Amino acid sequence: MSDEPAIEVARLAKSYRTGAVQLPVLQGVDFQVAPGEFVSIQGESGCGKTTFLNVIGGLETPDSGYVKWNGVGLDGLNRNALARERARFIGIVFQSYYLVPEIDVLQNVLMAMRIAQQSSAKDSVAAAKTMLERVGLGDRGGQMPATLSGGERQRVAIARALLTRPRLILADEPTGNLDERTGNAIMDLLESLCRETQTALVLVTHNAEHAARADRQLTLTKGCFDA
Ligand SMILES: Nc1ncnc2c1ncn2[C@@H]1O[C@H](COP(=O)(O)OP(=O)(O)OP(=O)(O)O)[C@@H](O)[C@H]1O
Ligand SMILES: [Mg+2]
Repeated sequence: MSDEPAIEVARLAKSYRTGAVQLPVLQGVDFQVAPGEFVSIQGESGCGKTTFLNVIGGLETPDSGYVKWNGVGLDGLNRNALARERARFIGIVFQSYYLVPEIDVLQNVLMAMRIAQQSSAKDSVAAAKTMLERVGLGDRGGQMPATLSGGERQRVAIARALLTRPRLILADEPTGNLDERTGNAIMDLLESLCRETQTALVLVTHNAEHAARADRQLTLTKGCFDA
């Protein structure tokens, strides 16, 4: 495995303009995650946690500063290259799952793999089935997302995020829509799969117990991480 940090960002700044008002959200954030490390991020609602994940996940562009995935800077990448690199290096898990409603569970799990163009269709299907088994849904591949519970949908999203063997998972309140017991089970699953595969994990959460499981806990305040 490479010694490069799974992700490295420096002096990251981002503000939003609505009308005449400029709202600074990220104000010079420095941040690194070592290979396989688990980092949690907490902070008040509206402090910029989702914005931070979107910027470090290459879904939004920073106003200044840089983002490197596995040593590769995002600056020079065009749109297609960025999508492909993201699919290879990063897995993303959102609070509201974001499964594609028109295709079945197996096809949903395969989506990131298709974008990453990593392996043949046949190998991908076999790997996706194995991954569904790992998240306890081995017999659900043919179902449509709408027929699954919230916890099951999040399991599908986790399988999709991990299928490409990314170096880093970005998770934005992955248990935020789930009851406590289901949320704890999803957290157990996400953490154990990441630890087992040495995938780094950046977890944004309002759940202090989940945050405390991390190797390192950070709090975002006024656009920066508390020292
Ligand atoms: N596209 C946008 N345009 C304008 N303002 C935005 C945009 N996205 C976010 N904001 C503002 O930026 C600030 C940070 O939002 P963000 O969603 O990152 O917060 P958060 O920490 O994830 O909050 P929560 O815990 O509620 O999810 C908020 O004040 C929000 O209103
Ligand atoms: Mg948020």
